[in-house]
This record gives sequence, structure tokens and C-alpha cells, in this order.
Amino acid sequence: MTRGQHWRAALDRLDLPVVARKRSWFTNLRKAALYCELPTAAAHRALDLGAGSGVIAAGLAAKYARVVALEQEGDWCAFMRRRFAQDGLPQITVLQANCLDLPLRDESFDLICVNGVLEWVPDASAEGHPSDVQLRFLESLHRSLRPGGALGVAIENRWFFEHFLGSAPHGEPAFAPVLPRRLANWLTRHLQGKDYRNWIYGWRAYGRLLRQAGFREVSVRQVLPTYHDPQRTAELRDSRATAAFLDGSRRLAPLLNMLARLGVLGFLTHSFYIAARK
Ligand SMILES: C[S@@+](CC[C@H](N)C(=O)[O-])C[C@H]1O[C@@H](n2cnc3c(N)ncnc32)[C@H](O)[C@@H]1O
Repeated sequence: MTRGQHWRAALDRLDLPVVARKRSWFTNLRKAALYCELPTAAAHRALDLGAGSGVIAAGLAAKYARVVALEQEGDWCAFMRRRFAQDGLPQITVLQANCLDLPLRDESFDLICVNGVLEWVPDASAEGHPSDVQLRFLESLHRSLRPGGALGVAIENRWFFEHFLGSAPHGEPAFAPVLPRRLANWLTRHLQGKDYRNWIYGWRAYGRLLRQAGFREVSVRQVLPTYHDPQRTAELRDSRATAAFLDGSRRLAPLLNMLARLGVLGFLTHSFYIAARK
């Protein structure tokens, strides 16, 4: 991009192992669709928090008059500034900041999106229990929303069935997401020399956390197949929807089909879209 390439061409050429497998994460405007659908009292100002590549901010700009893309990493901020300039989106302002230190006025946004970020927030504070840090963060978002404003969150499900098989969504040791927190912390310290802070939760605990932060009308839905590639949402008890996205050749297919018939597979889905209002 610094040599004058369009951001899309630069992204296509970028040969980094992690990014190469995740290009659509940066270009898929469907990632903003759920947030655009959330009803809000007005469509003046939206905040994309932990904006990364800016794909969600770009989608929000189709509906909201002003969009703030807040991101802590300078490289992502530089990328977004060029991306929005090349795409002709002057209504988006890029703000480099730590979201635990929000430089925002109270009651200044109609919509706030937190897509794949809540689990990283405890890393921004060396002190404090991870869930206390997350609660403090959500309380600050509640203050920044106008009355009647909406919050949208996308995040992994602690009880995703693959976590019971050892998959670890944020680089933590295998099984850490589903172990009791103290044990997960001990394991992470032992294997990685640091605390386990990237806490994710099940649907009930997310609801509790948001209500504790002052939000109302909290709704938790599954997003399928994952929030990185959102193709549809479904109610948690809609296990058929979850099953429709499973790979039938999996070793576990018979067990997963049985869980679907019992109506619990949706609660073991990969990730959630959570919506709430002030
Ligand atoms: C998994 S990425 C998600 C990016 C984007 N929201 C998306 O879904 O495409 C998480 C982003 O949150 C940012 N982030 C994490 N902790 C943050 C903090 N304390 N303050 C601001 N941004 C943060 C990271 O730098 C990263 O860009």
C-alpha cells in the first residue's frame, strides 16, 4: 500500500501465513449486516470497537452518518485510513486508542459493535479479574450509548463442542476454555508462563454480564457457521440450523446428530451474535 497499491491488491498479494487463510475476514461485508439490522433510535453515529481491518466500519458507513473505527494497533489504523480513503468513505474516523480508556463522550453513539474483541479486553489491563475488566468495559460502552442505542457483540461460545476435543480459539492451551477457570489459569501459567485471561462464556453467562452492565433486551443467537463468516443466525434451540453447517464426514457425526435430535446442539455452537439495548 505504501507503494501506491490499492488495499485489495495489497491484501491479495500479502503472503503471511495467518492472513492468507483469513483474507475474507477483512473483506466480507456480511460481517456488518447484523449490526446494520439492529434497530436504534437514530442512525447518526456508530462505533466499531477493535475495528482491525475496518471491514465492519465500512459496512456501517452505508447506514450511519458518522462512524468511528477505534483500534489500539497503529498498523491497523494506518491500514484503515488508507482503505477508507481509497474507498471514498470520509464519514469514517479512525481513532487509535485502548478501549479500556475510551476517549468518548457519554451518550454519543447510537450503535456500538464489539466483533471478536470482548475476549481480548482483559489483556489490556494487567490488574483485575478478567470478568471484572470485561464488566467495567461493558459499563463504559453503556455510558457511551445514547438512550435507545444498541450494542452488538460477536464472540465465541465457551461450550463449543470442539473445545471439549482440545481446540483453543485464542492460543490458550488445549481444553483451557472448558476447564474450571482456576485450573485453566494454572495450566496456562505452567505451559505458557502467563495467566489465562481471554475468557469466553456460554450464552447464559453472556446474558448475565450484559444485564449486570446495565443493558436490557439482551438476545443471544447462534451465528453460522461462525462469526468470521456469518451466513445466517438462528435461535439457540434451533439445532437443525447448527447441524446444517456440520461436515457430515466428521468422526463425530453420529454423536453430533444425536445432540441435534435432542435439541442441544445449538447451545454447543461455535459462536454467538449478542444484541442488547440501553
Ligand atoms: C479478532 S480482531 C477483530 C477485528 C474486527 N473487529 C473484525 O471482526 O474483523 C480484534 C481486534 O481488537 C483489537 N483490540 C484488542 N484489544 C483492544 C483494546 N484494548 N483496545 C482497542 N482495540 C483492541 C485488536 O488489535 C484487533 O484488531
